[in-house]
Amino acid sequence: MKFSARTNWELEENTLATRLRERRARGEEVLDLTASNPTACDLVYDREALLSPLAAPAALDYEPQPFGLESARSAVAEYYRDHEADVPVQRICLTTSTSEAYSFLFRLLCDPGDEVLVARPSYPLFEFIARLDSVILREYPLLYDPGASASSPHAWTIDFEELREAITERTRAIVVVHPNNPTGNYASDAERNALERLCAERHLALIVDEVFLDYPAAAEGKPRTFATGDGPALCFVLSGLSKVCALPQMKLSWIVTRGPKDLVEPALARLEVAADTFLSVNTPTQVALRSWLQRRATMQEQILKRVRTNLATLDARLRGTKADRLAVEGGWTAVLRVPREVAGQSFAEAALDRGVLVQPGEFYGLPEGRAVVSLLSRTEIWERGLALLPID
Ligand SMILES: Cc1ncc(COP(=O)(O)O)c(C=O)c1O
Repeated sequence: MKFSARTNWELEENTLATRLRERRARGEEVLDLTASNPTACDLVYDREALLSPLAAPAALDYEPQPFGLESARSAVAEYYRDHEADVPVQRICLTTSTSEAYSFLFRLLCDPGDEVLVARPSYPLFEFIARLDSVILREYPLLYDPGASASSPHAWTIDFEELREAITERTRAIVVVHPNNPTGNYASDAERNALERLCAERHLALIVDEVFLDYPAAAEGKPRTFATGDGPALCFVLSGLSKVCALPQMKLSWIVTRGPKDLVEPALARLEVAADTFLSVNTPTQVALRSWLQRRATMQEQILKRVRTNLATLDARLRGTKADRLAVEGGWTAVLRVPREVAGQSFAEAALDRGVLVQPGEFYGLPEGRAVVSLLSRTEIWERGLALLPID
């Protein structure tokens, strides 16, 4: 039997995963500082309010619309109005997940072997999505200001020189995660303008993932969405319920298309056929979308409180130790600078020996001596896990 080369994955378990599995099999406790599934992080979900819209009579109708029901898309437009962005419903395409949205866009923009540029460090799932769509990922670096403190704004910047160099004849798009996972940096206004100009100049699309937009680490100021403005590039903005409403199980995301009319129109026409081929979003979820988006503050407030409290606890724990943390502007993740080795083992392995799970920074393309932790972790686990980290 011959399988596709694109699914010729490296399936071998890494050492950390083996040790974790063995530890759990022995029944030993694991204090998981990487938990980022909001439904398993002790947040309060109003069961009745969230589930009752799924039982609306309209959930039994089937109206196949390539981009999704207009009522659902207008709920997304309302979300953007709250972000001072006027997004016409015709420019919103619903998908089942942000990952699916990426896949639609890769297929819209790329032939097999074409290239998409993503930041390093960034979110590891891109590699799998690109491979499934026969797209080659190329990286551009994000730079970290070595003098930055944990609270410095704009400590991370895009290396535009390297980004320009990475563009080839086969490049079709630049991906920007705003704020990035795991580094938590938002693209600044200057970066945004430079990205738009570069994409327009080189005939590339700009794909902006805003799933964490609503989670700034600082209480003041509201981050600006890419879904607004009259920039010169063809721009696709992605977001969805998994982060905006902490409802990953509901499987609903969206793509907003923005840019010059002569690019937006053919892009939408092509995307529409792709979306029509799958009609992937189920009706009950679309029917419930408005109600969930209207209630998002109840989830976002809990998450922001958790993230900010956990950051404060983390800073208190790191003071006077061998570790520190990098600046975080937004999102649910923090990057720690840690000893590369502890008693002959990698930091993550040494932490696991003490019963604490952290992610090695290499998973995200960070250099050695970095660990990634989830700021969504339950407070009690967070405090106990941090206390046991081998950083003293
Ligand atoms: C930056 C980023 N984009 C997209 C996703 C996936 O979102 P979805 O659940 O909508 O596929 C994640 C999930 O962690 C993420 O971190």
